[in-house]
Amino acid sequence: MIKASLVIENIDNLITLRGENKPRCGKEQSRIGLIQGGLVALDGDKILYVGEGKLPSTIGTGEDTVFIDARGKLVTPGLVEPHTHLVHGGSREHEFKLKLQGVDYLDILAAGGGIYSTVEATRKASHEELYQQAKKSLDRMLAYGVTTVEAKSGYGIGDFATEIKQMEVARDLNESHPIDLVSTFMGAHAVPREYLDRSDDFVDIIINKMLPLVAEKRLAVFNDVFCEEGVFTIDQSRRILQAGQALGLRAKLHADEIVPLGGAELAAEVGCISAEHLMAISEQGIKDLAQKGVVAVLLPGTSFNLQKGRAAPARKMIQAGLPIALSTDYNPGSCPSENLQFMMSLGSLLLKMTPDEVITAVTINAAAALGLEEEKGSLEVGKRADIAIFDVPNLEYMLYHFGVNHTDTVIKDGKIVYQK
Ligand code: NIG
Ligand code: FE
Repeated sequence: MIKASLVIENIDNLITLRGENKPRCGKEQSRIGLIQGGLVALDGDKILYVGEGKLPSTIGTGEDTVFIDARGKLVTPGLVEPHTHLVHGGSREHEFKLKLQGVDYLDILAAGGGIYSTVEATRKASHEELYQQAKKSLDRMLAYGVTTVEAKSGYGIGDFATEIKQMEVARDLNESHPIDLVSTFMGAHAVPREYLDRSDDFVDIIINKMLPLVAEKRLAVFNDVFCEEGVFTIDQSRRILQAGQALGLRAKLHADEIVPLGGAELAAEVGCISAEHLMAISEQGIKDLAQKGVVAVLLPGTSFNLQKGRAAPARKMIQAGLPIALSTDYNPGSCPSENLQFMMSLGSLLLKMTPDEVITAVTINAAAALGLEEEKGSLEVGKRADIAIFDVPNLEYMLYHFGVNHTDTVIKDGKIVYQK
């Protein structure tokens, strides 16, 4: 008889997200596989059993089996963050007043602040300083129930050594921290100031020098570009993404965040795994992404913090059959917050997604935005034992009671890594 290493029992609301290991779209985004009075058993780092009531007779327990009583609680797969700028130096509270006066995000950038200010701070920071700062953020994320995080480079831009430093910090944290990190190269996050009047030359450097080295050193899985007015054009973004693909780096895109440039259309054309932000997406962009099954990663905390009174048209996207994922976009400029639970509330309050759609967006769909849907994002036999337990009576309560941390316990690869 197989012996369970850990059993979570008496679960009032167990959200399994069981079903096919693929992004859920349309009505499927609401199929959360809820079990009331559920039980989950683990065998080391894998899920052994998920069901109702008691353990089946084929599974035993022993003296060393850990039992967790989840009476009155909600249990979900460990949450997944598919879009963050985790590793960076410094902070940007000095721009907060400007923002409150209504100065635009892109104007602050054009004046040499914004991303450029963080580039300075990140260049100056040592590996150890960046590591400690990012670790603090990861600890917070873990406390919010997050077990997998994507981390983008992009604060070195012209300075390749800084880009590498960021990705090495992500690699080291992946080894030492309970959270799994997935690395994205984002050398094209801003045009270095000295290349502003010849940005194509910088694109050539990314393509000919940076991307081959990132691929060779296996520092990243994904390649991302900030395709935006005054940053990288559609043509430049296409070139960078395709060059990455040729080297085995899957494409992601910061698309139609502020100005509708046709980023979503480009993401569909080149076959991105995900298109991200999409606040200013066009009708055609929605159709193209839906047709290609690209995951739309929406970042409502950024919409909230940019204060433009605008958010991505999530309802239209769901109607069009687009799978939606949600993430914090955690970064020092457009979203300085690691609180994914707050973003989940904003998913409902700002994007008008139902709580069922929201939980799908931070589990199986978020895992799919990282190509990890086979091993993460749902609670099913054989998948990774990454689990979050929240001290709430039901999912609606969790989103409705916003801004606070509801986490009770987090389990990563079968081990308890956080307890309230
Ligand atoms: O996702 N849009 C570009 N990049 C980030 C912001 C980065 C920053 O402001 O430092 C974003 O919003
Ligand atoms: Fe971003």
